[in-house]
Amino acid sequence: MEKKRILVGISGGIAIYKACQLVSNLSKTHEVQVVMTSHAKEFMSPLTFETLTGRPVYSEMFGPGVDHSKVPHIDLAKWADLIVIVPATANFLAKMAHGLADDLMSSMMLAARSPVLVCPAMNTYMLAHEATQENIHILESRGIHVLNASSGLLACGDYGAGKLPEPGQIQDIIETLLIEEKDLAGLNVTITAGPTREALDPVRFISNYSSGKMGYALAQAALDRGARVRLISGPVSIDPPSGVELYPVESAQDMFEAVQNLLDDTDMLIKAAAVADYRPKVILDQKIKKSDDDLTLSLERNPDILAWAGEHKKDRTVLCGFAMETRNLLKNAQKKLESKHCDLLVANSLKEEGAGFGTDTNVATLLWPDREETLPMMSKKALAHKILDALVAIKEAK
Ligand code: CTP
Repeated sequence: MEKKRILVGISGGIAIYKACQLVSNLSKTHEVQVVMTSHAKEFMSPLTFETLTGRPVYSEMFGPGVDHSKVPHIDLAKWADLIVIVPATANFLAKMAHGLADDLMSSMMLAARSPVLVCPAMNTYMLAHEATQENIHILESRGIHVLNASSGLLACGDYGAGKLPEPGQIQDIIETLLIEEKDLAGLNVTITAGPTREALDPVRFISNYSSGKMGYALAQAALDRGARVRLISGPVSIDPPSGVELYPVESAQDMFEAVQNLLDDTDMLIKAAAVADYRPKVILDQKIKKSDDDLTLSLERNPDILAWAGEHKKDRTVLCGFAMETRNLLKNAQKKLESKHCDLLVANSLKEEGAGFGTDTNVATLLWPDREETLPMMSKKALAHKILDALVAIKEAK
């Protein structure tokens, strides 16, 4: 993503220590300008943020050190592509909600024209107070993004909602807000994710280690880029991104039927699911009881959903498969790309450090019918966007 100008406004709360990590992370890929309230400076020296960003911290409207020939609260607001208030205290939320402008940061907020994200963090009773809740509603009704505080043991010793979410989570939301390009707007994207479960008896099944993280990251990324997203998901323990249409399935047969129903109405089908190739020949009604003998299971083939989609899709539909291999990665992946009639295949090796089931990162090679590109290790979210970049280009060329 190109460098953006992010203005981080810091008000005075103990969660400021997490703002340091956020500012440090953001400064690696963006231009970051910090503004602090005078209470924030009681918790932390501006020097910390000046060192992290390489820029002076702005705080005062008047007084020594302020260049009165400039109008910093207006210039700062105009400069920003995005403003994030982190942490946002009850007092600062109230000032924003009611338009108070009695210091640099609150005055700057009145002049803001860019998207604004506020991240409240405070004592749980202060957060639950009607005044704070009403202020949050006022801000939301004006289109300001308010990140829900998380719950846990608070610095004051109380337990409840009021904690500032982790810097990584705030950064993800910032990156999402910065994506202006809605290059999937108007397109129906169908994504399969997670494992399938093949029942053996009422208590047992055959499955695999897929966590669903790659498919869910794709679903989030496609949503962020404006698509209508249908997520056909096997059983996983992560939450679907809000805004997707979720089709929960168990077995490969269930997944197959969901794909069959949606294929005609799909512009891009992304098959990130780890589908079980075989299922027990019979599903027993009663629990299998143990005996002293060995047990042999008889398995039969499941349908190959991707191969079916490759044969039945319309020409304009873009098809993306995945290949998870433990050896001969590129040779096997190339074979799957061709035999399943994919437009793009994402190949990853289980043996590679930073790739595989359950990790937050992935190392992948993208294969087109006529070329391939090996990508460095990156987050599943970043990889999701790389894959979508490739699919958008394919779609445009169709
Ligand atoms: N796939 C599918 N239906 C199946 C098996 C796989 O749709 N019954 C899809 C997967 O979602 C993935 C791609 O096919 O997009 C490749 O899956 P993978 O498990 O790597 O390969 P298989 O085709 O099953 O071949 P093998 O297990 O022999 O490597």
